[in-house]
Amino acid sequence: MCGIVGYIGPRNVKNVVVGGLAKLEYRGYDSAGIAAIDNGNIKVVKSVGRLANLEAKLADSPVDGQAAIGHTRWATHGKPSDENAHPHQDCSGRFAIVHNGIVENYLSLREELVAAGHEFRSETDTEVVAHLIEEMYNGDLFQTMIAVGKRIRGAYALVVIAKDHPDEMIAIRKASPMIIGLGDKENFVASDIPAILEYTRDIYVMEDGEMAILRRDGVECFTLNGEPVSKEVYRVTWDAVSAERGGYPHFMLKEIHEQPKAVRDTLRGRVSDDLNRVTLSEIGLDEEQIRNIDRIHIVACGTSWHAGLVGKVAIEQFARIPVDVEIASEYRYADPIATENTLIIAITQSGETADTLAAMREMKKRGLRVLAITNVVGSSAAREADSVIVTWAGPEIAVASTKAYTTQLAALYLLAVHFGQVRGQIDEAAAHEMIEALDNLPQVVEAVLDTAPQIESFAQRYAHAHDTFFIGRGIDYAVSLEGALKLKEISYIHAEAYAAGELKHGTLALITDGVPVVAIAMQPDLYEKTVSNIVEVKARGAFVLALTWVGNEDLEKAVDEVIYLPKTLPALAPMAAVIPLQLLAYYAAVARGNDVDKPRNLAKSVTVE
Ligand code: F6R
Repeated sequence: MCGIVGYIGPRNVKNVVVGGLAKLEYRGYDSAGIAAIDNGNIKVVKSVGRLANLEAKLADSPVDGQAAIGHTRWATHGKPSDENAHPHQDCSGRFAIVHNGIVENYLSLREELVAAGHEFRSETDTEVVAHLIEEMYNGDLFQTMIAVGKRIRGAYALVVIAKDHPDEMIAIRKASPMIIGLGDKENFVASDIPAILEYTRDIYVMEDGEMAILRRDGVECFTLNGEPVSKEVYRVTWDAVSAERGGYPHFMLKEIHEQPKAVRDTLRGRVSDDLNRVTLSEIGLDEEQIRNIDRIHIVACGTSWHAGLVGKVAIEQFARIPVDVEIASEYRYADPIATENTLIIAITQSGETADTLAAMREMKKRGLRVLAITNVVGSSAAREADSVIVTWAGPEIAVASTKAYTTQLAALYLLAVHFGQVRGQIDEAAAHEMIEALDNLPQVVEAVLDTAPQIESFAQRYAHAHDTFFIGRGIDYAVSLEGALKLKEISYIHAEAYAAGELKHGTLALITDGVPVVAIAMQPDLYEKTVSNIVEVKARGAFVLALTWVGNEDLEKAVDEVIYLPKTLPALAPMAAVIPLQLLAYYAAVARGNDVDKPRNLAKSVTVE
């Protein structure tokens, strides 16, 4: 996820582009850059780090001109650095492009272009597009871009400017978002509406597979084959603040709703087209090394630790490797016992959590191999680990983690199946069934989001509660822990998660009339046992909200309210069950008037011990 902005018109292009990028920093802030056509030449200024660094550079090296493009980066291919910052250029400097998305076939294109004599300056997938334009350019930029579009695979929103075409810019959209802002003798293009809202409220929403030519006096839209498309003007009625959140009142709600895409992006390219195999070449372990792993230690904090608990069940089930899941702040001082074939998996959204990094460093010092699962490509965890699985959730702004958790689950499921296949622990049919179900997860998550009104109503009725309990068995218990944490951190309602069978060993004493209990019953094998525990809390007066799969209407007799979730494989149920729990925490926090995105006493990235 990155942010792009383009402007053609009479205003100061630097002010428009940098101002627009400031509104898109939520999409990434690893580096920023601008390219403008100035006096017949393209001038590029870019800098690693936040936009302020670019602005400092621009103070010494101003850009001006009649058209400009800009970019704020969330690193994917290549670490955050000046060289990897966009815009990227071809060898001759005649073209400049900004890109949001992933060019999946960039390695083969890069090889081809290097063989043809092109010199690359960055490690990005994007730079291949700049050289490809140079290679294929026939004097007609529009036709060249149609041809270039046919050569690149993946998801992209691209904007290109060319020295020979100072009066136009070309924008292409495939899978990554893009809108065009329509002005009077000026036009804009951007990844999102907030970037241009200061100047215009009239926009074209670019559909998947469309491209556009922007000139000062108009915008023409086309299919990727160059056939004209007529577009309707959409008038934006949101205010600027809610526009930054894509129309959602809070980043947390926006991020909850981004989960189908985030999960899809994390799975993309990692399962074969026939859904028979998982490909995780980035883990850098050959088959023999995978077969030799005799134990896994997962280390993480908070929500990432909860993802690890689900990962343990999946890895043990599919790969039959014993897994310990450790809280990093404990593990780092625990003098852990590990064999030389123990694999350390560090899970960290930010890649900067001090305790997780310390645990990684400790085990690296002992010569153990560390695999990081992180959402931030250039983070310390990504740099220091031996290998990395990146979760493609995009920047998570709300302090309460949501899409990071579900993408971490996706990564762990992939790893579990991959290890299981290599170690011969799952047969082809089971692997296919699991990969097919994984592939279907974005649709499952999408369907679960439809339960939001029901959860909102429950949250409003129970927002005054002092204590809440979350219960479940097996993998449902792992999800209960995440549900309780979410509720605590943003609603400030005390919440405890319990393995359902453990209640009667003490906690049942706290269940009195009207105490809300959220019961997760998503495991067919443990279903009857869980129902027995539900009956126990009901008998003490609890108000029980249960989560179970569609078609399990029986449960209605035992509880007060049921939320039905689409059926998926039991191992994947956490992916469905966590969504209502995130929504419950969100709506309870809203009902209590809390600052949802910035809960008290908490920070997004915990870089101190
Ligand atoms: C809870 C939450 C935290 C983080 C924890 C670890 O919603 O966000 O519990 O999960 O601070 O952070 P990362 O994953 O960045 O290491």
